[in-house]
Amino acid sequence: MLTVTRLLLILAFAYRCSAWLALVPVSNSSSYTFLRQMRVFPHVRTICDRDTSFPHCDITLDENYVYRTLPAKTRDMFRKAVRAYPDENVFIKYDDDVVVDYDYVLSVVNDVEKSGKMYLGDPMQCVGFRDARCMNGKFYAVSRSIAECFAYLVEDNDVNVSSLEDVFFGTVVYGKCSYLGFEYKSDLEKMIWHKHYQNQNVCMNLAFKGDKDCKAPVREKLLSI
Ligand SMILES: *[C@@H]1O[C@H](CO)[C@@H](O)[C@H](O)[C@H]1NC(C)=O
Ligand SMILES: *[C@@H]1O[C@H](CO)[C@@H](O)[C@H](O)[C@H]1NC(C)=O
Repeated sequence: MLTVTRLLLILAFAYRCSAWLALVPVSNSSSYTFLRQMRVFPHVRTICDRDTSFPHCDITLDENYVYRTLPAKTRDMFRKAVRAYPDENVFIKYDDDVVVDYDYVLSVVNDVEKSGKMYLGDPMQCVGFRDARCMNGKFYAVSRSIAECFAYLVEDNDVNVSSLEDVFFGTVVYGKCSYLGFEYKSDLEKMIWHKHYQNQNVCMNLAFKGDKDCKAPVREKLLSI
C-alpha cells in the first residue's frame, strides 16, 4: 500500500515537473501585465534585446535587433536558452501577440515530449527545400534535440537564408538536423488566437499599435472615500 502511494506521489511529481518553457521575445511595447494573466505564465521566459526596457527579462541578448536581423536574434535566443535551461525537454516559441488555449498547450507539450524529435506548428513553405516545412513564428514547439541541434549547428552564413526568422529557423532545422529523423506536426489553428482574440462577448486586439483602433472605456471613479 505504501509503495503504491509512493509511486503515485512520484508520478504526480514527475507530471507536475514536466519540463517545458514558452520563450517569448518582448519589445518595449509588450505588456507584462497581460502576460501575467495567462495560465502559461509560470512557464514563460521573456527574451529581451540588450536595451529593451521591460519589467522582467529572463534572458537578455547581447545586441539590439531590427526586422532584418531577426534570424540572428532567433539564433542567439536558442543559443542562450538551451544553455540557461538544461533540464527542459520542450521549447515553445510564442509571439507576444498570441493566446493559445492552455489545455491545448499541455497536449502539445505532451506530444513533443513523447516524440523527443518533433517540430510542431503552422506549416509554411521554406526556401530552397521542397519537402521542408517552416512553422509560422507566432507559435511553434520543438523537442530539446531540435533546439540544441539548431543552437549548436547554425553558422553565421546560415543567417542569410531568409530575412524571416521563422523561415530561417525551419530551413536550418531541415538542412542541418534531418539526421535526427525529426517529425513535423501541424498545430490546431482553432486553438490559437493571433493578433485578435474573440470568444463570445470578448473581443481583444492583441497587437495594438497605439492608433485609434482600441476604444478603452474611460475609467470612472464611482465613489471617493
Ligand atoms: C526601448 O527603450 C529603451 C529605454 O527607454 C531605449 O533605450 C531603447 O532604445 C528602446 N528600444 C527601441 C527598439 O526603441
Ligand atoms: C550575408 O552574405 C553576404 C555575402 O556573402 C555577407 O556579406 C553578409 O555579411 C551576410 N550577412 C549575414 C547577416 O551574415
